Amino acid sequence: MKIIMLGAPGAGKGTQAKKLAVKYKIPHISTGDIFRLNIKAGTPIGLKAKVYIDQGQLVPDDLVVELVIDRLKQPDCERGYLLDGFPRTIPQAQALDAALDQKNDSIDCAIDVNVPDENIIKRMSGRRACLNCGATYHIEHIPPKKEGICDVCGNDLILREDDKPETVKKRLEVYHKQTQPLIDYYRKKKKLLSVDGTKDMDAVFNNIMKALEA
Ligand code: AP5
Ligand code: MG
Repeated sequence: MKIIMLGAPGAGKGTQAKKLAVKYKIPHISTGDIFRLNIKAGTPIGLKAKVYIDQGQLVPDDLVVELVIDRLKQPDCERGYLLDGFPRTIPQAQALDAALDQKNDSIDCAIDVNVPDENIIKRMSGRRACLNCGATYHIEHIPPKKEGICDVCGNDLILREDDKPETVKKRLEVYHKQTQPLIDYYRKKKKLLSVDGTKDMDAVFNNIMKALEA
């Protein structure tokens, strides 16, 4: 299975991608997580990306495309993968299609997790993230067992810099302008599955599974 997760910032792409990756035993590749790890480690990619991420802007296409295409060459991607947060622009989608085309390959589907902007800002201010293992929580909906501590690895949980309300508004603007056109891009290719992302986490997952198995 080669699946793309589409959706606004905070729509629940990461939450659902993690569950799908376990279900299908395929790697979960989140470009956001890769950038955050690079920022934490202070790598050259991290330093470049931080400037854009902190402002709620997209990292330039060339930087992201190279990173992802390289990642897809790893042996764990042979049975498929879940792309979370990539592609995010039409040129990124075209670059992915071109790279897959060369191997006579293509993605199976793009899942759009649909959540209106009003719900998003609320969700983001409650999100807590573990920079060590990538787990995410919500202080109301999905709280960790011990406040501020990751259930999975025991590291401290943080409020992401880019989850502050002003930055979230900017990210939503960028989403509508640059990423939302991908919904039509994949619809035209008959690869689009759309689910209502406002339901609770398990209901969203069940609806994705139903759509995938239909
Ligand atoms: P990235 O990390 O991908 O951020 P994003 O797309 O803005 O998405 P989020 O991770 O914020 O949200 P999500 O949809 O994964 O939601 P989650 O499951 O956590 O990217 C960060 C930045 O990196 C970008 O802004 C950009 O600058 C750069 N970047 C990354 N990829 C790029 C690319 N390809 N090109 C250029 N730049 C790129 O859920 C959110 C919260 O809601 C959580 O607290 C969760 O617990 C809760 N929640 C989830 N589902 C539900 C539910 N059903 N009900 C209630 N609460 C829920
Ligand atoms: Mg995410």
